Amino acid sequence: MQRRDFIQQSGLFCLGAALAPSGWGKNLSWDYTLTAQTARLNLVPGGPTQALGYNGQFPAPVLRARQGKRFRVDFTNHLAEPTTIHWHGLRLPNAMDGVPHFTQPPIQPGERFVYEFTPKDAGTFWYHPHTNSLEQLSRGLVGVLIVEESKPAPFDEELVLGLKDWLLNPDGSFAPFTSLRAAARVGTLGNITRVNGLQTPQYSVQGNRYLRLRIANMDNTRIYDIGCNLPAQIIALEGNPIKKPLPLSHHLLGPGMRVDLAIALPASGRLEVFDQKGKLSYPIASLLITPPTTNTKAKPQPKLKANPIPQPNLKRAQTIPLVFEWAGELSESSTHPKLWLINREGWAGGCEDMDPNHKPAPLFTCQKNAHYILDMHNASPYPHPVHMHGHTFLVYERDGVAVEPYFTDTILLQKYEKAKVAFVADNPGDWMFHCHIIEHMKTGFMGFFRVT
Ligand code: C2O
Ligand code: CU
Repeated sequence: MQRRDFIQQSGLFCLGAALAPSGWGKNLSWDYTLTAQTARLNLVPGGPTQALGYNGQFPAPVLRARQGKRFRVDFTNHLAEPTTIHWHGLRLPNAMDGVPHFTQPPIQPGERFVYEFTPKDAGTFWYHPHTNSLEQLSRGLVGVLIVEESKPAPFDEELVLGLKDWLLNPDGSFAPFTSLRAAARVGTLGNITRVNGLQTPQYSVQGNRYLRLRIANMDNTRIYDIGCNLPAQIIALEGNPIKKPLPLSHHLLGPGMRVDLAIALPASGRLEVFDQKGKLSYPIASLLITPPTTNTKAKPQPKLKANPIPQPNLKRAQTIPLVFEWAGELSESSTHPKLWLINREGWAGGCEDMDPNHKPAPLFTCQKNAHYILDMHNASPYPHPVHMHGHTFLVYERDGVAVEPYFTDTILLQKYEKAKVAFVADNPGDWMFHCHIIEHMKTGFMGFFRVT
């Protein structure tokens, strides 16, 4: 462990006194200015990396919003290419969704765009471009967005772990982000694994306290299997509190997914968070638990209030089958090879590379406020984190077996897995629906649905 890995990244996490949310009790607005720009980072000893960063920083600033309060980001694009910001997992007005050609024209170099909305749901979310995603996400444009509960749950400590790898040559330059071979399989993994921009960061925290650990997988490709050495409870998935906290054994976290854990810290010791790969485990982060300086009384685990997501009625719902498969053959276009299909259609390049005058047809169309079941089948031998914009859906059945229903915006379908999810189409607009392995998304695994 290198000394510099102990650096506390300001704004990244708050431990101890810093936890008191900035706006709590005061009449603050959640108002930010943000830029996308180049960032020169030192990631490998061989040389600097010409990366991209929000506010020129990596990790990007952790943005905080408050449930039910106006959130505003005055954004300027200082990149040499167009971009947009997508607020992953938020149920917001279509015009704020950050999808080029659909919800807004791409923000050109030098242009400014104000994102402004009132989050309905609290939880751990994230933000990223939806323009030239493979490049822009790979080069560093990803950040955590925390929506605090309208009455924040009384955890004593909070730590955010943002997971994102880099794919670098020894001299610090980027290696190719994709290859046909990888895009047709699990995708291209990074070779420099980082957590909050650091290699296995270490933090320290006082014992006898309730810790809320927010873990966000912002990587393009890597699926984590999260475990930890102390008893922990899963309290929220993709931001949404689950009905009953679930003891963590290990938890699969695909690209785009988040998990919130509650951990009752002992008086002293160490909390190790790791990625489990079969019998091996790789450290993610480590917390030194120091004896409490003040006497803290044991208290019950703070509870999270459910997000106000409309409950789909399965009896009333119309079923839409969705089959995801491998294309089997390449399309003619080498710039936009088609490797993945949704219901036999592949949208190579997706919304990002389309000609705005030639919008394809939606995957399916919903009537406003009607209820739908998506009967999904991953007919491929690879896992896919399937993500839906503008709505949060209820997962209730996997491989024909009822599961404890939970709300999410991204479901990790295992190879050949089937799942039934349901939602109320209450948010009008055209909304993207895609795999969050970015290489899959860019090679066909994308479509959109329309709510009218
Ligand atoms: Cu993180 Cu289209 O999504
Ligand atoms: Cu996929």
